[in-house]
Parts: sequence; C-alpha cells; structure tokens
Amino acid sequence: MTNNKRKNWVIGNWKLNPYFQPAEQLFEAVAQAYHSQAALHQCEIAVAVPSIYLAHFAKTKQLSIAAQDVSVVSGLGAYTGEVSAELLSQAGVELVLVGHSERRELFADDVEKLQQKIKNTLQAGLSLVYCVGESLAQREAGQAEQIVLQQVQDLIAVMAEDAWSQVLIAYEPIWAIGTGKTASPQDAQQMHASIRHYLQQHSFEAAAVPLLYGGSVKPENALELAACADINGALVGGASLDATSFISIVQAFAQ
Ligand code: PGA
Repeated sequence: MTNNKRKNWVIGNWKLNPYFQPAEQLFEAVAQAYHSQAALHQCEIAVAVPSIYLAHFAKTKQLSIAAQDVSVVSGLGAYTGEVSAELLSQAGVELVLVGHSERRELFADDVEKLQQKIKNTLQAGLSLVYCVGESLAQREAGQAEQIVLQQVQDLIAVMAEDAWSQVLIAYEPIWAIGTGKTASPQDAQQMHASIRHYLQQHSFEAAAVPLLYGGSVKPENALELAACADINGALVGGASLDATSFISIVQAFAQ
C-alpha cells in the first residue's frame, strides 16, 4: 500500500560521533543546506546526536533532534545515570530511537526493556523511531520475515491505538549496518511490504506509519531505495557524518 501524501523522512544517526567541534560544524552545515533549498522540505529530516549534545542542538531550533536512547524509568528519581523521556522532551528533543540493533546486541536491550522505552517515549509525547531487523544468520536460515514481524508485534503489543501518529518504523537488516552492503531495493521493498501488510491487518492507523530503510544508505543507492513504493525514508548512519552526503540522500527522498 502506498500513501502518496505521506512525507518521507531522512534521519541521521550519528551514533557515538563526532567530537564536539566537528559536531558543531556538521550540524551547522546540514542546517544551512537544508534551510537554503526549499525543494528539500518535501522531506522531513532529523539528526540523532549523542546524548550530551541533545539540549545544545535542540536549543538552536534549526533541525529536529532525536535521542538515540531513553531510560526505562520515567520522570525523575534516584536513578543514577538515567535520562527519562520527560527530560528529553523538556530539552526540546522530538524523536527517540528505540530498538536499534546496536542497543539490542551490545547493551542488552531485551523486549521487556524496549517495550518500556516505547511506552515512556510515547507517553511523554515524543515520536518513536522503532528499529527492527534480522541478522545474517537469520536471513540465511530463511527466518528474516518471521523475526522482523515478531519485532513489529512487540511494538503492537504495547501500542495505544491513538498513538500511531507518533510512530515511525525503521527496517535495518543487521548485516547491512556499517558494512557497505545494502539490501537490494527489491529485498528492502519486499520486507517493507510485509511489514506494511502486517500493520494493515492490525489497523488503518498502524498501516499509515512511515517505513524507513537503514543499512549502508549512501548517495549512490538512495534514489533507487527512494523509488520503492513502501520505503518512506532512510535512517542513515555513516553517511550522515558528512553534510554533503547526508543532504544528497535527503534530496533523493525529497523528489
Ligand atoms: P549505516 O548505519 O548507515 O552506517 O549502515 C545505519 C544505522 O545503524 O542506523
């Protein structure tokens, strides 16, 4: 199903990069390029920056800012080291990534924690960028779709029906992240269509969420991905650390 009126989204995921001064330069360059080309505004953009930069960049009000993680606890309290969704919201953050494979694999974000993070994000009024994706072993075993749809089901299980407008889903096959290997546009489209179909069976509102592709998206492959019916944007890691590359990906999705 395609909804032609839906705006595409391109979100840069800076991960733990870069140091403060080059981060300032990168942010300025992206903001300047985006705001000086009206044609790019057909595409919504955001940058997911390291947590220590969030309030600083949000205060400039130049670009939408995404957090890369959120606490499982909400509000305030005796939780050393935590940052709650409410604090993110007060700092001017608009979106939160939840379920990125690096968090699932390296930081033990299991389904229970992810579901708590989803609930906290949505209850604080923030938008959720929920990431799903299979490993290479799972793909080779023919389990890719089953794994991804189970991850989508983990989201559905905690969704309030009226909160779907706050949700974006990013399909990021783990074997394509940071490896230079991209899923072929056909493979990506096929998985996106399966996710869309699964959401459609749940509700009309669920089926309308933007579906972003992530995994080695570059200026060279962005146009082909953007042409796929069920790909409504990109979650960009490595290529978002270069303003020119990032903006040319935005351009591809603004057409
Ligand atoms: P990549 O990362 O573009 O460097 O593959 C994507 C991501 O992890 O979000």
